[in-house]
Amino acid sequence: MSQRRLFVTTALPYANGNFHIGHIMEYIQADIWVRFQRMQGHAVNFVGADDAHGAPIMIAAEKAGKTPQQFVADIAAGRKPYLDGFHISFDNWHSTDAPENHELARQIYRDLKMAGLISTRTIEQFFDAAKNMFLPDRYIKGTCPKCGTKDQYGDNCENCGAVYAPTDLINPYSALSGATPVLKNSEHFFFQLSDQRCVDFLENWTQDGKLQPEVANKVKEWFSVRTNPDGSQSEGLGDWDISRDAPYFGIEIPDAPGKYFYVWLDAPVGYLASLKNLLEKRGEDYDAYMASPGLEQYHFIGKDIVTFHTLFWPAMLHFSGRKTPDNVFVHGFLTVNNGEKMSKSRGTGLDPLKYLSLGMNPEWLRYYLAAKLNARNEDIDFNADDFMARVNSDLVGKYINIASRAAGFIAKRFAGKLGEVSADGDALLSVLADQKDNVTSLYEFREFAKASREVMLLADRVNAYVDQNKPWELAKKEGMDARLQDVCTVCIEAFRLLTIYLKPVLPGLAAQVEGFLKIAPLGFADAGARLGGGHLIGDYQHLMQRVDIKQLDALFEPPAQAEQAQTAIESIAPGGEKKSTPTVGAHASSLPPGGAGLALGRPGGEEMAPTISIDDFSKIDLRIALIVNCEAVEGSTKLLRLTLDVGEGTNRNVFSGIASSYKPADLIGKHTVMVANLAPRKMKFGISEGMVLAASHADDKAQPGIYVLEPVAGALPGMRVR
Ligand code: MSP
Ligand code: ZN
Repeated sequence: MSQRRLFVTTALPYANGNFHIGHIMEYIQADIWVRFQRMQGHAVNFVGADDAHGAPIMIAAEKAGKTPQQFVADIAAGRKPYLDGFHISFDNWHSTDAPENHELARQIYRDLKMAGLISTRTIEQFFDAAKNMFLPDRYIKGTCPKCGTKDQYGDNCENCGAVYAPTDLINPYSALSGATPVLKNSEHFFFQLSDQRCVDFLENWTQDGKLQPEVANKVKEWFSVRTNPDGSQSEGLGDWDISRDAPYFGIEIPDAPGKYFYVWLDAPVGYLASLKNLLEKRGEDYDAYMASPGLEQYHFIGKDIVTFHTLFWPAMLHFSGRKTPDNVFVHGFLTVNNGEKMSKSRGTGLDPLKYLSLGMNPEWLRYYLAAKLNARNEDIDFNADDFMARVNSDLVGKYINIASRAAGFIAKRFAGKLGEVSADGDALLSVLADQKDNVTSLYEFREFAKASREVMLLADRVNAYVDQNKPWELAKKEGMDARLQDVCTVCIEAFRLLTIYLKPVLPGLAAQVEGFLKIAPLGFADAGARLGGGHLIGDYQHLMQRVDIKQLDALFEPPAQAEQAQTAIESIAPGGEKKSTPTVGAHASSLPPGGAGLALGRPGGEEMAPTISIDDFSKIDLRIALIVNCEAVEGSTKLLRLTLDVGEGTNRNVFSGIASSYKPADLIGKHTVMVANLAPRKMKFGISEGMVLAASHADDKAQPGIYVLEPVAGALPGMRVR
């Protein structure tokens, strides 16, 4: 078999949060395939990168008081523990904000322009005069034109499901500043996908049989007449708006000052940029590599980003004179314990780092996902009971068990030496070895569930052989030494074959097995050979524990409140603040049981809290803060938005439920006290990075009034309150 050259990627995750389990699933799927290809002797370059650009990241960075570059660098710095922890074998991890990407994206654009496929058009768009920027649809809110529900997003109504344009909203307002947006003209750049050349090319590219059938069918709809939300009909592919106006975190369009590429123009170019960066680090030539005959290019992606990868991206590549992908492999979404899908704004169901920190074996997850994944675009569910059953009864009970049943005898009774195999064992080993082509073709076609099922069926046969021959009884019988060595040798040989078949899924375990068997790294070609009589193996050490139900309980134990807030922040995605539930201001009073009674002994209307130690108190970091700015929060009657300086060099954004007692202007320039080490909390209107101290009576109806604390003159921002 001749060596194939493969260039493989996963989708580039937005650099606005840590990985969630859906990302890890995608990486595990791709990694299994890549490791399989490498085991077949093929040369694979497997790369990823952070998708750094776009308005949501720019806005999130501003809220965090960081430059976008610093913001995405901080996210990038957190990637390694996930990738290493789950054995994801990327050859490179890069960023779409890297110089290679700026250069490549601009060159591709120039080439498309040369091909006559770029046009400009003036469009009318909502503009936020307070922020001095055009507003992405997601940042325009208002009243639904269909059902009248307030505070709906610019593209669709979460109450009635209506889909509309932002300009259809009643009383639109900017989700960023609260200002009423105005319509303003702007020149935009378009990639003319409606050009007949593009249509012809894409109809062929998407319908020539390479795509998964369900994906090809879905994509087909884009070429036919479709009905718009307003009932009008559009024909086929529309032109694609590829520009955004400054301020934007992105790549400036050549010869168009103040105009930037829309993030989805340069995001897939990041695949090439990461590859280029990798090859250059190795001293290899990128252009030569891309031009090498037979180079295959594959992208693993989720079902939500199919149009970008099967229409825009191949067209960009083809009409800029570049190689198009050989295929795009689409997977469904992962849900957890039948939960809702972890959409971009969630992903809190199963925290990958928590999984690792509980000492749970990453290969349990790899095996479990492999046992569920197939080549189709189908959702899969992580179910805790199912997980435990598959790992404990199949992986450990069937496969690992084979080694543990035989290795001890070989070590103790035969000084680690394998014996000769007689006819029955030989037949069994041949059955196993003969499955190689079947197993490899299942891996090749990403039928991982079938592959693991096949391997477990083979393990069943080996266990049946063990049960028939009962080595533990042979060990007690006189004169049965040779048979004992024979049977145990068959087990070890069989275990080696099964290890080859599972190695793409269980790379760490396979490495341990290679160590214990004292052999070189296994590839699929090794299925044709045996260890052979006389081979010396090492001491068996238990290879894999069973899942303990306590670990699963701990994994899904609802996180403490602080942690919850942290996770919420980590999972905010471009597309924005969509699904967050409105949160009441920090000072919403909690009435004591019994309500309004102003009994003596209940100062301020509530019992004293239980005694704490000085250590407990010192956990709370109270700081003097200067109220740099204060403004009303559009859409909330309770909250004020405070911009606080606590001497850190950047400001903090804090929401406080004090609007009933203060006008914004009352507070600007004053000092106050804030809890500075409270976990940031994502609220409907943005992230609150702390809490301002204020006094109030427990019964805010009987004794209304909220009083923000103010230090005696002289206290400076950042001073600790103790
Ligand atoms: N930045 C874009 C992709 C640009 S590719 C040039 C993006 N990022 S993402 O972080 O939202 O998603 C990254 C990948 O994770 C996508 O393939 C997406 O489908 C996948 N998943 C996100 N949630 C998922 C699940 N719950 N389950 C499985 N995959 C999921 O889109
Ligand atoms: Zn509605």
